[in-house]
Amino acid sequence: MAKLTIPKLREMKAKGEKITMLTAYDYPTARLLDQSGIDILLVGDSLGMVVLGYPNTLPVTMEEMLHHTNAVSRGAKEALVVGDMPFMSYNLGPLEAIKNAGRFIKEGGAAAVKLEGCGNPMVQIARAVVEAGIAVMGHIGLTPQFIHQMGGFKIQGRDRDQAELLLSGAKALEDAGIFSLVLEGIPKDLAKRITNTLNIPTIGIGAGGECDGQVLVTHDLLGLTGQKPPKFVKQYANLYEAMHEAIRAFKDEVLEGIFPSDEYTY
Ligand code: KIV
Repeated sequence: MAKLTIPKLREMKAKGEKITMLTAYDYPTARLLDQSGIDILLVGDSLGMVVLGYPNTLPVTMEEMLHHTNAVSRGAKEALVVGDMPFMSYNLGPLEAIKNAGRFIKEGGAAAVKLEGCGNPMVQIARAVVEAGIAVMGHIGLTPQFIHQMGGFKIQGRDRDQAELLLSGAKALEDAGIFSLVLEGIPKDLAKRITNTLNIPTIGIGAGGECDGQVLVTHDLLGLTGQKPPKFVKQYANLYEAMHEAIRAFKDEVLEGIFPSDEYTY
């Protein structure tokens, strides 16, 4: 199969074909997701919390994101790779945003970048990056880089005014030229309204089943965190427990002199 393209994603929406996106932060996971037919690999800034052990996504740097984006790009043969722009790598204005978005493409090998927010300044920044020739995925609703303004990881768009702001922000981002929009942590009826209003595909996380696609953090889906996942996550496996068991078995066998047996010895 050929590499998935941005025009193909629009076609998928038009045909009502669902889009799948998962996060990847390293080469082996990228290969696994790619070979499993996942359409988009997002090198999310969730990297900070899931892999680097930060309390939230705010400390993540450009250098950390590029390091991991590069590894993911090497593993993705068919999937489209999107690099998540970290906090303060695009917020200062269009020039800084274009410069850093360009690094994701040139140094990270990504096909596109993602940025959070839909207030007027963010729409202008998204427009500038698109006009510089870089494909942009938007991200609205529960936007983790705004954690302090939101007062925590809270569902957004529950009241009428907030919902209207999100709908008009989504339209403004589409007018600015973004190719796709992540809808995170919003009521499903609002996600449906936004999805039906836009021509570009929406990709939901905690936003119900009416979006054009779905995204999850891979570590949550695979049960790799060893923690209770949030309500919107379906855990398809419990790899933390499986890995824990394997590691305990190794330790026990070494202590008991069972490993390495003759079978594993030259
Ligand atoms: O950083 C991330 O993983 C994300 C997804 C959850 C959409 O932004």
